[in-house]
Amino acid sequence: MTTRPIRFVHRGAIVEVADAPPTTSVLNWLRESARCTGTKEGCNEGDCGACTVMVGELAGDRVEWRTVNACIQFLPTLDGKALRTVEDLPADHPAPQAMVACHGSQCGFCTPGFVVSLAASYEQHLAAGTSPTRRGLADALAGNLCRCTGYRPILDAGEAMFQAPACLPDTGATVAALRALQGDPPLNYAARNPATGATDTFDAPRTLDALAAQVAALPQATILAGSTDIGLWANKQMRPMPALIHVGAVAELRHIREADGVLHIGAGASLESAWAALAGHRPELREMGLRFASPPVRHVGTLGGNLANGSPIGDSAPVLMALDASLVLRHGDVERRLPLDGFYLDYMKNQRHPGELLVRIEVPLPAPGERLRAYKLSKRFDCDISALACGLRVTLDGDTVREARFAFGGMAATVKRARATETAVTGQPWTEATLLAAQAALSQDFQPLTDPRGSAGYRMRSVRALLHRFWLETRPHDPLPASATQVWSAA
Ligand SMILES: Cc1cc2nc3c(=O)[nH]c(=O)nc-3n(C[C@H](O)[C@H](O)[C@H](O)COP(=O)(O)OP(=O)(O)OC[C@H]3O[C@@H](n4cnc5c(N)ncnc54)[C@H](O)[C@@H]3O)c2cc1C
Ligand code: FES
Ligand code: FES
Repeated sequence: MTTRPIRFVHRGAIVEVADAPPTTSVLNWLRESARCTGTKEGCNEGDCGACTVMVGELAGDRVEWRTVNACIQFLPTLDGKALRTVEDLPADHPAPQAMVACHGSQCGFCTPGFVVSLAASYEQHLAAGTSPTRRGLADALAGNLCRCTGYRPILDAGEAMFQAPACLPDTGATVAALRALQGDPPLNYAARNPATGATDTFDAPRTLDALAAQVAALPQATILAGSTDIGLWANKQMRPMPALIHVGAVAELRHIREADGVLHIGAGASLESAWAALAGHRPELREMGLRFASPPVRHVGTLGGNLANGSPIGDSAPVLMALDASLVLRHGDVERRLPLDGFYLDYMKNQRHPGELLVRIEVPLPAPGERLRAYKLSKRFDCDISALACGLRVTLDGDTVREARFAFGGMAATVKRARATETAVTGQPWTEATLLAAQAALSQDFQPLTDPRGSAGYRMRSVRALLHRFWLETRPHDPLPASATQVWSAA
């Protein structure tokens, strides 16, 4: 198969890279090859935001920029796109100007990342004719950590940007260069890996048929989506990945649509758009979506990647299991559908066969009588992995529970339904006596482990408390408003 270089736009011009190993991070390319050292490396795992850059794609006649963590993005994923860093912002851009004016920087290590996140937020709001609340700014900055300045002056800077004269950088050259790249064939990239001496490959088919055929033909290849998990395999585990097949160039895989009472979410839809679609029908899920990682991770991370990864503490599986979601898997031309409940077999093991691709997640739309909540407990409110996450749903007929689905992450080796607890409430009046029976049944469902995120005792007490909270918020008589049960809210 003929290979070609990676081609992307940087500073208004097309850049070609032909010799970097496919798992070279965008950050390493910037700092070591392009000598653009304004973008910093902190954690090298997507957590701190020091490496935040913007990646742009054509949307009609303009560029849509999204923040990403350069440390966990592989360079070939830039193919056909544009890259913009803190050094590419004009000196009079309101984001850096406001950071200076509001004393938003001390040691300055985090500052380039903050400036890029602020600039992205500024430009999105300016284009939409809106301005963010202080809380909205804090959400936009949830992926940026500062250890010395404190967030008050940084948020002040975020507000001050919008008082400066409007400034939208000219992207004419970038648009023209992105248009020129649209004529390129799909990326088949290969380069020597100096660590092994072998040639590693990176393929990015553009149609679902071609992608499915390639995954079936190369079952040992690593399927790469947003690389927010896989980026860490490369950076932290030094795991060899000699053949990568990227799903990100297949537009069809990102589609989200509704048909026959079901929300169909393409496996390649970003976490940001997938959670927006879910919360569009079920506003109760909005806070869980905002607390899922951070904007740069949600912009590229996919719902399919989160479910295929199968972490016992992943945030979407408990919610989607409570919603009775199904997965559509494809091997070559053949599709099969299976319930998410039952997909996970054991720790990080699932029913996906080698050569099979996850193509779609199907989520039934809300039925009358549905009461739903999703709760997440973690040590930090923003951008932290869950100690415990759950999706809790009952369907009421008057005061009686017709159906119950309680799914928990962080309580076992896989995300799992609490079947004994569900049985304890089904057909019963949704009263405090039923709640007490359900809380007692939880110990039949789970014997959690102690780990650095929480002890077994903490986990058991927490799930009982969360079930209590769920009952208080959904009981038929006098349900408590969210304001009465939340100590801190992102929504
Ligand atoms: C800073 C940070 C914070 C995070 N916070 C959270 C959090 O709050 N909650 C949470 O649940 N997760 C969190 N994560 C984990 C991660 O973001 C998610 O698991 C994400 O959804 C993975 O999606 P991806 O597209 O990046 O997958 P990738 O990293 O590309 O792939 C992950 C796995 O899925 C497989 N895969 C991907 N797509 C497909 C497909 N279509 N078919 C078959 N297999 C496929 C890959 O082969 C791989 O095994 C966080 C990660 C980081 C770096
Ligand atoms: S270096 Fe910390 S997020 Fe990339
Ligand atoms: S200014 Fe030092 S870490 Fe933010």
